[in-house]
Amino acid sequence: MFYKPKENPFTIDPFKSLVFPRPIGWISSVDKKGNANLAPYSYFNAIADAPPQVMFASAAAEQPLQFKDSLINILETKEFVVNFATSITRKEMNLSSLNAPKNQDEFMIADLRKRKSKLVKPPSVAASPVNLECKLLKTLKLKSNSKRYTTMIIGEVIGIYINDNFIKKGRVDSVAMRYVARMGYSEYTTVSSKFKMKRPD
Ligand SMILES: Cc1cc2nc3c(=O)[nH]c(=O)nc-3n(C[C@H](O)[C@H](O)[C@H](O)COP(=O)(O)O)c2cc1C
Repeated sequence: MFYKPKENPFTIDPFKSLVFPRPIGWISSVDKKGNANLAPYSYFNAIADAPPQVMFASAAAEQPLQFKDSLINILETKEFVVNFATSITRKEMNLSSLNAPKNQDEFMIADLRKRKSKLVKPPSVAASPVNLECKLLKTLKLKSNSKRYTTMIIGEVIGIYINDNFIKKGRVDSVAMRYVARMGYSEYTTVSSKFKMKRPD
């Protein structure tokens, strides 16, 4: 079949089930007063490595304009941390997506331990095998054809924590981390296998 997104023939729009698996950026941030916030974003990815940069996209209601807390905090303090949910913390990650009042700390709601970040104020998720400490580079308002409008947030990774248990002979054992990733609907997957392929010279 073929369809134009504007004329989607499905009851549930399958778009998110077609671009998968999407990594989940589990974003921690703080407001000006230092109150912590944590939320998962699967419109997330690494987009450059020299210097390393990441992006995530946050959908807001437009009338009245209501940005999500992560975006409000990041605009205020210009910092965030990307954490990664694993098969062990998948339920906590899901719980942290609750639309909690702005001053409520999702670390508390999901009973997650914080680790002090090295270079930025937002705390890191202690149970995350990797934490990327980021400085805001820019935001970009994406095209919108509905009442929700989406902002892309681009950050430069200025500090990287890797749990030493996942470093073997100078390489990262990515599969052992068991990251969870998002598919469509309520579906997720876990990275549990790999294969190797060398680039042609
Ligand atoms: C796995 C997962 C992925 C999500 N990805 C996004 C996303 O990419 N963009 C978005 O705006 N909301 C996304 N959400 C919803 C937000 O996590 C949710 O709106 C949350 O309450 C936002 O929190 P905040 O207001 O503290 O930033 C996702 C939720 C889950 C469970």
